[in-house]
Amino acid sequence: MSHHRPTPLHSSNHAGTPALTQEELKALVGQEALRYVKPGDIIGVGTGSTVNHFINALGANEILCKSLKGAVSSSEATTVLLHKIGIPVLEASQVDRLSVYIDGADEIDHAGNMIKGGGAALTREKIVASLADTFICIADESKLVQTLGRFPLPVEIIPMACAQLIRRFKQIGGQAKLRLKGEQPLVTDNAQHILDVTSLQIKEPQAFESLISQWAGVVTVGVFAHQKATLCLLATSTGVKTLEFKSLGT
Ligand code: 5RP
Repeated sequence: MSHHRPTPLHSSNHAGTPALTQEELKALVGQEALRYVKPGDIIGVGTGSTVNHFINALGANEILCKSLKGAVSSSEATTVLLHKIGIPVLEASQVDRLSVYIDGADEIDHAGNMIKGGGAALTREKIVASLADTFICIADESKLVQTLGRFPLPVEIIPMACAQLIRRFKQIGGQAKLRLKGEQPLVTDNAQHILDVTSLQIKEPQAFESLISQWAGVVTVGVFAHQKATLCLLATSTGVKTLEFKSLGT
């Protein structure tokens, strides 16, 4: 991984200046991500509050926004926002490849492996990410970790496999809980359910992702190691840092 000099914040953190809130940090990287969108592109767009800032920033840049041929969206929620700013939303099957995919993360480690799915969009996120040459992760510094696993790992599952998958996670030391919306299981855009798994320390993300992906009833595990970030725009209190990651192949 290589660290670049942070892009300085316009409001520098001199003594007495209030630190930026997490929301302001997210807005900062949302704006910064525009640098990776080229006029005429078809881009992949992720899901979540950080990406929403990116979409707002794109909407505010009329020339760039109007120039785009379209976007492939990772969720119904993102599709609504893309339509609002006038970007045509294409099906993943309509494109062979994307130059760039821009998305947030719940955690990212120093090699670019991520946990994603806090917003329940992990399956489509992985599909769109796998079409892209470059995965730009936009995140605030609270998301950077040494080892993945502090954030409960989202796993999209086929509902009938729920009980057996909870048992399997228990065998490897994880506590899996069905994600609820109100009192009912949350239903994803793909009409499936989500398990959130705590008490894991994911020391070998690629091997872990491969293992869990093979379990019957797992649709998508929220570890993105085979589809890891190419680079991360990380908003810190001293500015946006660009972390570049080595590709290890899959
Ligand atoms: C959605 C995701 C998001 O990228 C992740 O949850 C981060 O969200 P936010 O930008 O709101 O912190 O994986 O499924």
